[in-house]
Amino acid sequence: MDHPIGIGLAGLGNVGAGVFQNLQRNRTLLRERLGLDLLIQKVAVQNPAKRVSEGYPESVLTGRWQDLVEDPAVQIVVEVMGRKDESLQLILASLRAKKAVVTANKALLAEHGAEIFEAAQQNQTPVFYEASVGGGIPIIKCLREALVGNHIASIHGIINGTSNYILTRMSEADLSFPDALAEAQALGYAEPDPSLDVNGWDAAHKAMILASLAYGFWVPKDQIFVEGIEAITAADIRFAKLLGYRIKLLGIIKASENEGSEVEVRVHPTLIPQSHVLASVNGVFNAIAVHGDVVGEVLLYGRGAGQDPTSSAILSDIAEAANALQHPRRDLGFSAHSLYGTCKPIGSTLSEYYLRLTVEDRPGVIAQISGVLGELQIGISSILQPESDEEGANVALVMMIHTASNSQIQQALDRISVLSCVKRAPRMIRVEHFS
Ligand code: HSE
Repeated sequence: MDHPIGIGLAGLGNVGAGVFQNLQRNRTLLRERLGLDLLIQKVAVQNPAKRVSEGYPESVLTGRWQDLVEDPAVQIVVEVMGRKDESLQLILASLRAKKAVVTANKALLAEHGAEIFEAAQQNQTPVFYEASVGGGIPIIKCLREALVGNHIASIHGIINGTSNYILTRMSEADLSFPDALAEAQALGYAEPDPSLDVNGWDAAHKAMILASLAYGFWVPKDQIFVEGIEAITAADIRFAKLLGYRIKLLGIIKASENEGSEVEVRVHPTLIPQSHVLASVNGVFNAIAVHGDVVGEVLLYGRGAGQDPTSSAILSDIAEAANALQHPRRDLGFSAHSLYGTCKPIGSTLSEYYLRLTVEDRPGVIAQISGVLGELQIGISSILQPESDEEGANVALVMMIHTASNSQIQQALDRISVLSCVKRAPRMIRVEHFS
């Protein structure tokens, strides 16, 4: 067998430590499968002395990530530092040094994907990023390889485990949002800054990567729509259940199967029919449904985070990087093309809607509200109003709305919210039927 392929690991946090351990554990298996030996040559960490005391071999540790770039024996750089500027510098410097790059850094790819892959092209050196979306779920390889012959009509993903855990607990145990979030944090599911999990941006970074891969251009951050789950109440979850739905934070990516169409990229809480398979994806699990014009529906399900699932994705990237070093190829991890290239503004996207209003229980209220909707050509598909104790009390009024554009429904909400019979800001949640 040839010399081992040298790996430089940048970061020994939860994911880095998992890669280190799992690469040792499955080194023989990988050697048998690949016909190549993978060896961790260097590990860059902030505090090497501390890592030595934890049992890591001193000979591989360094306090400088630049050492990975400068060491000729390092052929693959695995970036799991999860930082912004330094991670970007490491990736670009590694590419310039013709070292294949593996990264799990979703925020970096979402925001600097164009720059990173331009550097990959210039240096004819690949970048792999399976762990950036869906943890151990092989969605990136699925889109890049298995579905390469398909126009992608849609991708619907539960791609943030923390928010899925919170919504699941709110649904199963009738917890409030703050209580469910506290539980997720206590169990270590939330990101160090949980705002990214609950405000939708962790899922949005992943949706941007999937959309870019599916449609061949790096989707700009300011052209996507993102709404988190912070405003979802236990009441919304109960009403949704009564109506036959579950509420999930979905990444929704769509384009017509025709080339040249605008691409929709949005992340928001969504009512989905309880009969749909994604409605049964609970707890921290992720699932991604892809619709391709040739294959039809494909569903991937698994753990979207955690040390071992994320390491599994990184091991597969390291294996692919090792193969690519042996047999250089055109595919450097992302194939830009010109068949798509613009995002649809949220105002023009079409959807069905759930509206929850708090209204005074008196004659004429439903007539006033349906009057506003009717004037804007918006149809009501069903109405649910729990019985109130006395006329004049404030009650919930839930309406399911037929397909309308986001700007139509926004106009309606602006008008409805100022009616004197409407006592609180209306709550609107989009509904998806996967047709
Ligand atoms: N915080 C993320 C989640 C995991 O909850 O899914 C890493 O992407």
